[in-house]
Amino acid sequence: MRLSFIALAATAFAIASAAPVEKRAASNNVVVGYWVPWGNVPVASLDMTKYTHINYGFGVTVKTNPDPTTIIFDRYYDGNNMRALVTRGNQAGVPILMSIGGWTGSQTFSTIAADAGLRKKFINNAMVFVRNNTLPPYETTPDGWNMDGIDLDWEYPGRAGAICNVYTPNDASNYLVLLKELRAQMDLEFPNTRKLLTAAVRVQPFDGPNGPLADVSAFAQYFDWVAIMAYDIMGSWSATTGPNAPFKNGPAGKADQYSVIQAIDSWTAAKFPVNQLVVGTAFYGRSVTTTVNMNTQSPITMYVNKTNVTPKGGPSDTNDVNFYCNEGSVYSGMWKWKELRAAALTTPTTAAAGWTRYWDDQTQTPWLFRQSDNTFVSYDDIQSLTIKVNHAKAAGVKGVMLWDMSYDYNGELITVLQNIHCTTNCPVNPVTTTVAPVTSTVAPATSTTKAPTSITAAPTPSPTTPGSGPCAGVAPWSSTTAYGTIGTKVTYGGHLWTNQWWTQGDTPSSVSWTVWKDGGAC
Ligand SMILES: *[C@@H]1O[C@H](CO)[C@@H](O)[C@H](O)[C@H]1NC(C)=O
Ligand SMILES: *[C@@H]1O[C@H](CO)[C@@H](O)[C@H](O)[C@H]1NC(C)=O
Repeated sequence: MRLSFIALAATAFAIASAAPVEKRAASNNVVVGYWVPWGNVPVASLDMTKYTHINYGFGVTVKTNPDPTTIIFDRYYDGNNMRALVTRGNQAGVPILMSIGGWTGSQTFSTIAADAGLRKKFINNAMVFVRNNTLPPYETTPDGWNMDGIDLDWEYPGRAGAICNVYTPNDASNYLVLLKELRAQMDLEFPNTRKLLTAAVRVQPFDGPNGPLADVSAFAQYFDWVAIMAYDIMGSWSATTGPNAPFKNGPAGKADQYSVIQAIDSWTAAKFPVNQLVVGTAFYGRSVTTTVNMNTQSPITMYVNKTNVTPKGGPSDTNDVNFYCNEGSVYSGMWKWKELRAAALTTPTTAAAGWTRYWDDQTQTPWLFRQSDNTFVSYDDIQSLTIKVNHAKAAGVKGVMLWDMSYDYNGELITVLQNIHCTTNCPVNPVTTTVAPVTSTVAPATSTTKAPTSITAAPTPSPTTPGSGPCAGVAPWSSTTAYGTIGTKVTYGGHLWTNQWWTQGDTPSSVSWTVWKDGGAC
């Protein structure tokens, strides 16, 4: 028995090593996609070149199981496609991770993490779960585990998520112990292959007894990266309309103060390494019903009163009661990008009849208004994602994540995310115009998110006149000009600068996260 197993394993290994594939896990920049069975995207149709990693969602923990450590598949489980995904991933060199948790599947993480015995059982279950459910390849694979890692989507440690979840102020410290033990078990079982351990996280560091922790550096030793869910910031639960996934914070007092910029700042301020952060992006929008005609507001604003009834979003939105946790029969109001492209936009930036598209200069996101029924949709598109990806690259994060792989339209958005890999001659904003029917924010609002001048100001060089070499013919930077086209070049302080996103009044400086990218001396 033993001999034949070794022979079988050796044969499998020989076959595998005949055509070695280099897993793109080695890449510095990741593009992580979530594949979920209810997205109904056939695995065979995926363009695997567009992703460096794919998370299969979800295994869930629910209170209806007598043992809190039991992991089951969510009700949409599609084993054939999951195994096909693992097989295709292995062929294409794209690591496939098993995602455990999610909004509906995080009910017992808190209970598990708090107890040494339950942690041990859960870790064992997680290892067996991944191993068993990726059969049959497992049986012929010497490594014994065909998936490449575990992605934990505990929503959220120390904070309420879905109303059925257990949570306590000690969740984060218990989570750290769980991760330490899980990492150790993965390394023990796979001494020759580093299996990945990642997580989806909020825009703020994990909550402790007194709110978000000031120091989460200890988590970095166990996670390969954490992907920040920098979306679902404002929606049906908010007091007013507002951005789903702002790049920069909207105006204080009107918008919840969360965004891509804020999230990177908050996690790095809490000592989490920037190169282990992944920026999560939304391939969808969220809608609400307003109480006013947004087309006739003066000035036009993204923040108006709304009703308390969430409308049906795109055609696929349902008000089915959550299978695992009854949160009421309500629509999400979500519009997938492909649904917006089919119904509300005739090109990525042109509104269809009945809709008006606006661009919000402060949050750097588009929004739509349908006057016939006062529908407001905040969403992301090629333009806003280009800004986020360019910033992610400039900020030195690990990469980008997207939710989810079924929402795209003809690969329009996943194509934008490829920019994270670019090092030279990178594409700039593929949208040639940023012109909205009406610009949505008043100019002074922009200044509220500007960094203090003491940080961004260059050491007082004066603007240069058009110079020689690479600066020949390039206009000097002007503090009063709005630079709307990404990739616009200016000269300043004897250097050539290129803008990463819309800007006005931001002095070019070599601080890494500012809008102007230093192209070197003229
Ligand atoms: C995993 O697979 C093994 C071998 O087929 C089986 O004995 C075991 O019961 C399975 N465990 C789970 C939790 O499914
Ligand atoms: C918006 O709602 C707030 C709070 O209910 C209310 O005080 C305010 O008058 C409303 N504004 C408009 C323009 O209806």
